[in-house]
Amino acid sequence: MKYAKITGTGSYLPKQVFTNADWEKRVNTSDAWIVERTGIKSRHIASENETATMMGANAALNALNMANVNAKDIQLVIVATGTPDKIFPATACLIQKQLQIPTCIAFDIQAACSGFVYALSIADQYIKSGVIKRALIIGTEVMSRLIDWQDRNTCVLFGDGAGACVLEASDSPGILSTHLYADGNYNDILYVDMPSGKEPCYIHMQGQKVFKLAVAKLGELVKDTLQFHNIKSEDIDWLVPHQANIRIIKATADKLKLPMEKVICTVEAHSNTSSASIPLALDIGIRDGRIKKGQTLLLEAIGGGMTWGSALVKY
Ligand code: ACO
Repeated sequence: MKYAKITGTGSYLPKQVFTNADWEKRVNTSDAWIVERTGIKSRHIASENETATMMGANAALNALNMANVNAKDIQLVIVATGTPDKIFPATACLIQKQLQIPTCIAFDIQAACSGFVYALSIADQYIKSGVIKRALIIGTEVMSRLIDWQDRNTCVLFGDGAGACVLEASDSPGILSTHLYADGNYNDILYVDMPSGKEPCYIHMQGQKVFKLAVAKLGELVKDTLQFHNIKSEDIDWLVPHQANIRIIKATADKLKLPMEKVICTVEAHSNTSSASIPLALDIGIRDGRIKKGQTLLLEAIGGGMTWGSALVKY
């Protein structure tokens, strides 16, 4: 059986760090409120030249280097983003050009914060079915351009960054399964309108509804993923969750009876980078030596749509 295996990861974070104290100067908030409700202490904010394409290309380059794969051998580029440079061409095509990847399949997907897990699942199908051997998947977001900088309900929650993975066909286990879901009935609890040119478009969110749905759906999702494989929580070496809020992450870990020592957390320093948060966390866990070859990882995310999904991965 063919598997898609993660052979390289990479990330990019904007140079500028914006702390809770920086938000205190702009809106009526406090470090104590933000930390208590979300676990966030700081986030990276993109400068004008740090676009989704620029950050995604840098993250991808780091992933290619780790995998020791030449850009010319990539056959599929998928970019998960809700903050592309252009409506079209796709960010995937712009990154393809920047990295000088020859003619290949390249497209963006939009599944909000679940985008990376969706991209992973699509690339997995292409590789498992033998259509391609090597894929580059990227989550890249400039959330700072979607927030209303006056709205304390949302502005403190988000940050910018990019993460990427190289996936290669392998005979040894890699992605073991992916599980994707969406329910458009929840479209109005978290959304950004299409720009009309008349008014700026911002993130609108019913925080408590999103919170409750996230805890419920992610709890079901991780339990179902383990049940699908007939494995127990003890078989998971690392939970690599979407980084929206430490309380949501803890609730999911609790559902699995997994100690927080087995959870890769970046929310404190990155805040919510939407589709970039999982590949960023993955890259950090791998590069600092916590995540080791052969270990079993559970990735999970939920976001606007609402969409949600998981991936069980043998690294
Ligand atoms: N600083 C200080 N006070 C604030 C702030 C702020 N930044 N934001 C809101 N408040 C106030 C509110 O105005 C409200 O005041 P009031 O009682 O006088 O009306 C009070 O704090 C409580 O507001 P709630 O919305 O009830 O606070 P809650 O405990 O629900 O926390 C939060 C809000 C952090 C947004 C929480 O609901 C949450 O995390 N929801 C999930 C949202 C999320 O993660 N979204 C990301 C995208 S989806 C995803 O990635 C999963």
